[in-house]
Amino acid sequence: MESFHKGLRIIPSRLLGWYDVHARELPWRTGPQARAAGERPDPYRVWLSEIMLQQTTVAHARPYFAAFTARWPSVKSLAAAEDDEVMSAWAGLGYYARARNLLKCARQVAAAGGFPRTRAGLQALPGIGPYTSGAIAAIAFDECTPAVDGNVERVMSRLMALGGEWKAGKLTIAETVAALVPPDRPGEFAEALMDLGATICTPKRPDCANCPLQEACAAYAEGQPERYPAKPKRAQHQRRFGSVLVRTFRGRVLVERRPETGLLGGMWGLPTSEWTGAAQAVREWPPGAGSRAAPCGEIQHVFTHIRLTLGVYREEGPAAGAGGDWLGIDEARASLPSVFRKALDLAAGT
Ligand code: ADE
Ligand code: SF4
Repeated sequence: MESFHKGLRIIPSRLLGWYDVHARELPWRTGPQARAAGERPDPYRVWLSEIMLQQTTVAHARPYFAAFTARWPSVKSLAAAEDDEVMSAWAGLGYYARARNLLKCARQVAAAGGFPRTRAGLQALPGIGPYTSGAIAAIAFDECTPAVDGNVERVMSRLMALGGEWKAGKLTIAETVAALVPPDRPGEFAEALMDLGATICTPKRPDCANCPLQEACAAYAEGQPERYPAKPKRAQHQRRFGSVLVRTFRGRVLVERRPETGLLGGMWGLPTSEWTGAAQAVREWPPGAGSRAAPCGEIQHVFTHIRLTLGVYREEGPAAGAGGDWLGIDEARASLPSVFRKALDLAAGT
């Protein structure tokens, strides 16, 4: 594979060596010593934990996991529970849709006599997507398959120093992880990546000094690992230009209803020119400005996807035309959209 860095090959053994010593003890987990002694994870507990962790953090999930497994120790007992009991036990974990799916899934599994043992079979169940099916298949059933969630994406984006359009590289991450999963310990590899992401390769301050993968890490070699994952480039703001008039008379300011269509459509505002793509519009006097209007400078305002630059003009005296309304200046400051507040402030200060 072209994108497969040679240095990545040391990852499975380094990571598992680290995991053997540093694995987090989690109530749904069968740790490396227990596994080596032949103990197997309970698919019910693995599934339940993964569903809860779709929703919340490990710390928050712990007491819920304890309460659920004390009350419903098997998928069969959960399947037999009343809907309301499960819904109220779920309260505090977030979306009830997840709890509904949890129960639906438990009942399907109980009716089938147990969990499907493959990623594909698991993914056909309610509430189980690509990440969760991979995690359960690998952890509970030793399927040699990857489990890629946001944490794993972060770690991998650093190991590979994936730049700029890294979201477009998602397939590369999934393919790379798939190629790294060691067939003899796929579940522990998934758990080890989760632990590394949670305790060492954290979002803000990765602890590279204690990272078992430092030697393989392209972002570490570059010197600024926290720069990854690189955010996808935001679409550039479109530029718009125009001019705006602050006409005052006897302590009041002239306001107009804006046209229904376009930016701030239908709202009250100061009189403005049309907002166009031509930069010189900033220097063209706004409609209604008389010969004594004074230029006060420019303001900038950013809307969701547009950056607007307006030339601000100020004039004292009644308006020639009929349209519009006069508002007290404080009232105008309080009630007009903020782009116009900026214009009022600039005009007041000049
Ligand atoms: N995050 C998602 N699944 C997890 C798991 N099984 N253990 C720890 N953190 C997780
Ligand atoms: Fe993350 Fe640093 Fe380890 Fe690279 S060396 S994987 S950035 S903790």
